[in-house]
Amino acid sequence: MSEIRKHNTYETDSSIALYCEFHYGDEYFNVANFPKKYAEYALQKMQYKNKINALEIGCAVGRASFELAHEFTQVTGMDFSARFIQVANQLKENATLRYAIPDEGDIVRYKETSLKALGFYSIKQRCHFIQQDACDLKPIFQGYDLILGANLIDRLYQPRKFLDNIHHRINDSGLLILTSPYTWLEEFTEKRYWLGGYKQNGENVTTLDGLKNILLEHFELIDVADIPFVIRETKRKFQHSIAEVSTWQKR
Ligand SMILES: C[S@@+](CC[C@H](N)C(=O)[O-])C[C@H]1O[C@@H](n2cnc3c(N)ncnc32)[C@H](O)[C@@H]1O
Repeated sequence: MSEIRKHNTYETDSSIALYCEFHYGDEYFNVANFPKKYAEYALQKMQYKNKINALEIGCAVGRASFELAHEFTQVTGMDFSARFIQVANQLKENATLRYAIPDEGDIVRYKETSLKALGFYSIKQRCHFIQQDACDLKPIFQGYDLILGANLIDRLYQPRKFLDNIHHRINDSGLLILTSPYTWLEEFTEKRYWLGGYKQNGENVTTLDGLKNILLEHFELIDVADIPFVIRETKRKFQHSIAEVSTWQKR
């Protein structure tokens, strides 16, 4: 099986329903909408900086990219999943999105949202959604004031390939913001490519340690914080996680 094979996980009907609800649906257990929250967090970190070009890698169905467009002139939302990008474009072009989420067994609930209801209608032209592999980014993707990768690194087949050259794509003093619950799984990332979550010479290596090893040469770590999130699987089953968000300023 090739290394790019495993990502079909994000092409299925069930993952589309899951991510539509995660991005555009209800909030559960009083935990704020995650993509809205991390986009707001990023905008707050960008407060006194240029906000011309932003790139969100692993944007899924696009909520955070739309949120960034409230303040950025141009936002590129990128994802490996063609179907996620299709959903984001469908919302952008048709201004409405309909989806069905599972309640129990074959019983589903129909949901609908619109650009107008979300407050994105007037800014939709600032957003562009494209299908791309984060581990094999073309050289044209550069000149960004912000690159955001939310819950992405532990889903990449070779996260180092994404991080090694990322500094070439960010403007001086621009930010790289990464969030992750660091839930490494061999289903997505072979163990030899994990950035952390293992022992080396008897010492724990955390993912933040791994990120520092790669990024500190070209970035300063300016903030680390937590952002919780809840993903609804069915009416009675939810995942509650806590992502760590690290903010890296290009030197
Ligand atoms: C856990 S989801 C997070 C999605 C979104 N950022 C969020 O927080 O809701 C991981 C995302 O990374 C995308 N992804 C996985 N491998 C990728 C790759 N090689 N290049 C670009 N995106 C990738 C998946 O398609 C999926 O949308």
